[in-house]
Amino acid sequence: MTLAELDKLQADSLMEVANAADAETLEKVRIRYLGRNGVVPAIMKQMKEVAAADRPVFGKNVNQWRKEIETAIAAKGTEVSKAPSNKVLFDCSLPGRWHTPGARHPVSRVIEESAAIFARLGFSVADGPDIENRFNNFTALNTPAHHPSMDESDTFWMGGDQLLRTQTSPVQIRMMTSHKPPVRIITPGRTYRRDTTDATHSANFHQIEGLYVDTEPVSLADLKATLAYYAREMMGSEAGVRFRPHFFPFTEPSVEVDFSCHVCRGQGCRVCKMSGWIEIAGAGMVDPRVYEFVGYDPAKVFGFAFGFGVERIAMIKYGIPDIRWLYENDVRFLAQMR
Ligand code: PHE
Repeated sequence: MTLAELDKLQADSLMEVANAADAETLEKVRIRYLGRNGVVPAIMKQMKEVAAADRPVFGKNVNQWRKEIETAIAAKGTEVSKAPSNKVLFDCSLPGRWHTPGARHPVSRVIEESAAIFARLGFSVADGPDIENRFNNFTALNTPAHHPSMDESDTFWMGGDQLLRTQTSPVQIRMMTSHKPPVRIITPGRTYRRDTTDATHSANFHQIEGLYVDTEPVSLADLKATLAYYAREMMGSEAGVRFRPHFFPFTEPSVEVDFSCHVCRGQGCRVCKMSGWIEIAGAGMVDPRVYEFVGYDPAKVFGFAFGFGVERIAMIKYGIPDIRWLYENDVRFLAQMR
């Protein structure tokens, strides 16, 4: 090897140190030049092949070179340890990452939309617990002690008078025992019944209860107007409402409420079983017995109540044929709600 070749090697090696971007690369450079089988020791061993006249200068240069690399590597080492690692740098050639937008669950959507609709009529949202007692869920709702709905086969009893509420109606009782009229609330929430699950039944479902009690006269016409407004807002401007006589212990008179079928617009189709109407809610004027239970004077207050199933509205509105789809959390189903 000549002095000129040594010069070139020296310059190259320092350049490599300077270019090392991270600790790993720098270590490789160190091993290549200073390692036991590295370039520098190899050149030392070849000293005798250098022309005798050049040998002293050559030896001095190699020694100096080794020190220079050592110093350069040490300096570079502190520099790269402070620098952010190459690996976290942004690689603009990588394909983009898709963020799949989530979707509101149909049950949440119906609840939120309903709350917004009733808010426009002056209803605020009230809440009550899933675990209720016999008084709020049955007794104060004027349900006689022998009523079949209280049976073990219909209601999840939890020991003593505790139960999983079978309806959101106990929130009516909670509201009236804690507030003076006027009371104007809706209350969405979970309800529980010992039902065998099939395409239209679930042991755990959701209801929205409505209650309006005032010291000014409130009539069945107000109830009908309220539900008609809700039907139009929820199902479309052509939706109609029909009342059929019914019985509930806590309303008198009581009605079952049908919405006109939004699929066939009342003509009759598979969804409405050819009737043109779909059963949606139970409702009625609050029974005077209930006012007595909550400490209102039945002679001085007027009011109506209604309650309907959230899943039922969701299934009709979004064309969902099986209630179980709402609980399976299958993303192929949920993604369609976007
Ligand atoms: N709670 C009744 C049910 O679950 C519905 C209802 C609510 C009826 C309010 C009348 C008034 O079937």
